[in-house]
Amino acid sequence: MVVVTGAGRGLGRAHALAFAAEGARLVVNDLGVGLDGSPGADSPARQVVEEIRAAGGEAVAHAGDIATTEGAASLVHTALDAFGRLDTLVNNAGFLRDRMLVNLDEDDWDAVMRVHLKGHFLPLKHAAAHWRAQTKAGLVPQARVVNTSSGAGLSGSVGQGNYSAAKAGIVGLTLVAAAEMERYGVQVNAIAPAARTRMTEAAFAQAMAAPDSGFDAMAPENVSPLVVWLGSAASAGVTGRVFETEGGRITVMDGWRPGPGADKGARWTPAEAGATARELLARARPPTAVHGTG
Ligand SMILES: NC(=O)c1ccc[n+]([C@@H]2O[C@H](COP(=O)([O-])OP(=O)(O)OC[C@H]3O[C@@H](n4cnc5c(N)ncnc54)[C@H](O)[C@@H]3O)[C@@H](O)[C@H]2O)c1
Repeated sequence: MVVVTGAGRGLGRAHALAFAAEGARLVVNDLGVGLDGSPGADSPARQVVEEIRAAGGEAVAHAGDIATTEGAASLVHTALDAFGRLDTLVNNAGFLRDRMLVNLDEDDWDAVMRVHLKGHFLPLKHAAAHWRAQTKAGLVPQARVVNTSSGAGLSGSVGQGNYSAAKAGIVGLTLVAAAEMERYGVQVNAIAPAARTRMTEAAFAQAMAAPDSGFDAMAPENVSPLVVWLGSAASAGVTGRVFETEGGRITVMDGWRPGPGADKGARWTPAEAGATARELLARARPPTAVHGTG
């Protein structure tokens, strides 16, 4: 039984349909907001539920805001009320407010932090409470969480300071959740996807156009198979990892780890610290380029 947030369109919809095609029962969440998070006319979740049902699957819609306690709690309750269980949570909902930092309003910062970071934390917390209760009742859940980061969070992205910070935060949250929740039988991983959705088509209209024939590398459906696997019992033993996934490519992303270092065994002077930093940098791997530079 799988919950996908922001599954009314784009990547979340593709994930929901892919899980349903594998026989999973779904809660399809979507608040139905505009590209920048502005209130929308209604939730597209019901449409996706109809698609799943038309193909013979089982699904219910949830139109709550996953960045609120009420929305996140009712999301988990909807799963338990409808299907009596919760196996997999895919945190996917979100939106953008892109601006260069000097033009970025406090509201743009808060809105993007809220929907991505709090919108991951709250459903995770409420699902975790259910899985912990199951463990305490002597059951051993085989639960899975798939979080959605971004290349912006891993390497940075010009014009996306708020989004990059939120998506980097999701990686940190994923690492902690994986470590804390292993004892409850919960695996937590993250993906950094790329696909043509309403979120990206304005920015990459040309590069992301669908080809007339052949493999459509930018179709959101290409990202879903890895999400389905990470969200299934088949991924046993895989937790706390981050994967970039786009088109036909899957890449394990290596996180921060110590590079060259030096230890004087005493306090450095600023001049010594600088000379040492330069010497270490000369031996270090250069960082990956920030998206949108060069
Ligand atoms: N498309 C890409 O190339 C790409 C790249 C990196 C990361 N991502 C991430 O993938 C996820 C999905 O993006 P997408 O491209 O499919 O975008 P999208 O705009 O097509 O879909 C996002 C959905 O989330 C919903 N949503 C927004 N706020 C919500 C809330 N508070 N509660 C419930 N639903 C809410 C929206 O209504 C929308 O249907 C996002 O987290 C995005 O940051 C996408």
